[in-house]
Amino acid sequence: MKVLVIGSGAREHALCWKIAQSDKVDKIYAIPGNGGIGQVAECVDIRPDDIKAVLEFAKSHAIDLTVVGPEAPLVKGIVDLFTKNGLKIFGPDKYLAQLEGSKVFAKEKMRAFGVPTADFKIFDDPADAKRYIDGQEMPLVIKADGLAGGKGVVVAESKEQARQAIDMMMVAKAFGSAGDRVVIEECLAGEEASIIIVADGKDFVVLASSQDHKRVFDADKGPNTGGMGAYSPAPVVTQQRYKNIEKDIIQPFIRGLAREATPYKGVIYIGLMINDTGAYVLEFNVRFGDPETQAILPRLQTDIIDLIQASLDVRLKDLRLQWNPNACVCVVCAAPGYPGEYKKGLTISGLEEAGNMDDVVVFHAGTMSKKSASEEVEYQSTGGRVLGVTALGEDIRVAIDKAYAACSKISFEGMHYRRDIGYRAIDRLNV
Ligand code: AMP
Ligand code: GLY
Repeated sequence: MKVLVIGSGAREHALCWKIAQSDKVDKIYAIPGNGGIGQVAECVDIRPDDIKAVLEFAKSHAIDLTVVGPEAPLVKGIVDLFTKNGLKIFGPDKYLAQLEGSKVFAKEKMRAFGVPTADFKIFDDPADAKRYIDGQEMPLVIKADGLAGGKGVVVAESKEQARQAIDMMMVAKAFGSAGDRVVIEECLAGEEASIIIVADGKDFVVLASSQDHKRVFDADKGPNTGGMGAYSPAPVVTQQRYKNIEKDIIQPFIRGLAREATPYKGVIYIGLMINDTGAYVLEFNVRFGDPETQAILPRLQTDIIDLIQASLDVRLKDLRLQWNPNACVCVVCAAPGYPGEYKKGLTISGLEEAGNMDDVVVFHAGTMSKKSASEEVEYQSTGGRVLGVTALGEDIRVAIDKAYAACSKISFEGMHYRRDIGYRAIDRLNV
């Protein structure tokens, strides 16, 4: 079969890498792909959110299955468009993509289905929002309703900060119409973890747990990023918690959507806060997590095409996923300046040496390939997050050591990466 993958990050490289392992797949295309994806797929220069152009490509190339990486095409309705044109595509329709595209929509569904989440109120008027803040205990979390490139959440420690967040989102319109409404919610304490599931509308399978590292510097200092590293499994999600998350969060959510005649097919990423009182949903995303996917897929032994087909054919009930029990760690190597303004066009060295190490795979994020003067393929950076250096090991310590040994082989001007990916798992071992 011919598979099309949409997106250009390390998540999509991991997806293409995994899809390429399926004996059912003859050819992979990626829109637009990146330097590393080009090793396993043919990259096609179309904008992923130009969903009509993507459709035309899929039709003219007789694509059998399309897998969507980022949220933007889903929120724009790519699944509705493909389905109307008789093409197979893996992901939720436009209505359900609002679970990520609108925090108000997601919170209302959680409330309706009794899914544990932070208490919240919705506001469409800045003066009302500020009056509410005046009467509350701090801290509070202020969230722009719509997509804001990962910057739409402010954890406000003081009332002043909370009011400023309201002004930024609702008055100055820092995120455009995404800030027309805001959610103000209770601030939860605990440890965050990610659970990704695949649903077929009726049933679901839960993938291995994982944990992201959102801040740019060690010890969770500095500004937020798209994610500086991840590992799987996340020991904070004990077996008991895993079961409780399934029973208290996933089942009511999937059943609730089915009852409302909007069954969910595709991936749901559940961002969780876990503390002594249980697990609470911070957010839903309607796609694979990045960088979590890079740490999960190397552990998945089941053919990913079988997983996706079972979702599309409503056969997940009978699917048992097979996992490599080893731990996996992904360390993100970033360009100088990231997550602020960063340099591009930096030549990357050491990729082959790192990639040839046992149990190591280097996923590319912002890279492109070029022929050098001596006709050799070389890779240059094109983005802020450049690589996801990923390693498997018999336990988390071994996986961490291997990932960092691989990072030490790689270099580009100003490359930076966190040195403490997986520290929470290590802390738990040390207790
Ligand atoms: P979200 O996009 O909703 O996941 O929010 C982004 C980040 O903000 C999360 O990963 C958390 O670190 C933080 N966050 C969001 N909601 C809350 C909350 N209710 N309590 C504490 N932290 C939160
Ligand atoms: N790792 C966070 C996300 O994918 O949204």
